[in-house]
Amino acid sequence: MNIKNNALKNSRSVFINKKYIEVNGGKSLEGKIKISGAKNSALVLMATSILSKGQINLFNVPQITDVAIMSKILTSMGMNIKSNEDKLEINSKSILHQPQEVFTNLFHSLRASFFCIGPILARLGSANIPLPGGCSIGSRPIDEHIIALEKLGVQFKFKNNYLIAEVITPKKRLIGALIKFNCKSVGATKTLIMAASLAKGRTILKNSSQEPEIVDLANILNKMGAKVKGAGTECITIEGVESLEGCDYRVMPDRIEAGTYLIAAAMTRSKITFSSIEPKHLKEVIKKLEMCGCKFEYSDKFLKIIPNQILNSVDITTLPYPGFPTDLQAPFMALMTTANGVSTIKETVFENRMHHVKELNKMGAQISLKDNTAKVVGVKKLKASSVIGFDLRGTAALAIAGLYANGKSIIQGLEHLERGYEDFALKLKKIGAEIKHKKQN
Ligand code: UD1
Repeated sequence: MNIKNNALKNSRSVFINKKYIEVNGGKSLEGKIKISGAKNSALVLMATSILSKGQINLFNVPQITDVAIMSKILTSMGMNIKSNEDKLEINSKSILHQPQEVFTNLFHSLRASFFCIGPILARLGSANIPLPGGCSIGSRPIDEHIIALEKLGVQFKFKNNYLIAEVITPKKRLIGALIKFNCKSVGATKTLIMAASLAKGRTILKNSSQEPEIVDLANILNKMGAKVKGAGTECITIEGVESLEGCDYRVMPDRIEAGTYLIAAAMTRSKITFSSIEPKHLKEVIKKLEMCGCKFEYSDKFLKIIPNQILNSVDITTLPYPGFPTDLQAPFMALMTTANGVSTIKETVFENRMHHVKELNKMGAQISLKDNTAKVVGVKKLKASSVIGFDLRGTAALAIAGLYANGKSIIQGLEHLERGYEDFALKLKKIGAEIKHKKQN
């Protein structure tokens, strides 16, 4: 395996180092930010390569620890991965149905590790996979994946934190079925699209998630020779094929990274221009920022945000796409702490995604929380403080608050941030922020 040194170093540090962000806030920013490839797409596209014996070359892959961990996971399954800057060459000519035991913890550390199950079952007919992990934002069950895969002919057993799965059809090949998901699940929709691509016959997925990352998955699969139709709508049809080819594919831009920096620009009342961005994926976020008092200029290749000095409070409710993304709830709440008025922020996707509230209040915010609804009373100032990020997007939210507060803030939880943001501090430093990634001795 040859993955980038930095990313590898970072993936180790998830387990052994306490790292933090130091921000000297209160500065106005100006300049350009280039958006990286999407984490939530890259991770599933990496797993998709299991479906083909040919080589998959992915471009625009973000250099983040989740990608480094996913590379190790795939390598533990017998695959060969080479990386060069934003390119990953993935070869899965030979693949195991169970990872080597020494790598079990990697599976537990990443939710996206579970993306392997569908492709392995489709290709090998059996899989022994350690249960997945990820951010501590709720219980994150996998029942929708399991129930739907059972309909394609899989039998499951749980043993010692492992999921033991076997295709029980006569030829050990998955068989297409009609599936109606009980709830919208991005992960379950992805799992089923991958599995059904090599199944015998037609699979119809109803109540599917509609996220752009699902369209990206369908696009790569169709390039590999699959027959996936309707991605981006609630009904997706997959005609199974016998085999899939290798291909070259460019990962879509990260709409959550883009949204985070748009919010950071609004928070610091700074005019920032974005490249490699897809504004149509950010419609709901842009709409809410416009309601706050931000203006936007568009061209073919750029999006520029021009915030007012005084921003208005706006309410949000997180919802599956095309609604307001749960992944931007925490950053948007940070923005609302200094807006004019009172904002109501309702989290409906995950049941435990409000760890940042207490930390934002330590910085002088006035947020009260009842169940999963936060009431944010805008204040004029935040105070630089020492706070802790408990998950990926919550840590980004605290860093955004730190950019606004005059003076030096310390934000612990850099290991969460590095899971999903490529060069977070560097990108902000280039536009004038005083921000560093640091390591505790
Ligand atoms: C993905 C994203 C994550 C994002 C989330 C929602 C990746 C790697 N992660 O996570 O960043 O926040 O979508 O946009 O792409 N659920 C069940 N049973 C299941 C699966 C899900 O009840 O089998 C529930 C979950 O508990 C949650 C909701 O469905 O309340 C949405 O989860 P899901 O869309 O599956 O999120 P992930 O795919 O885990």
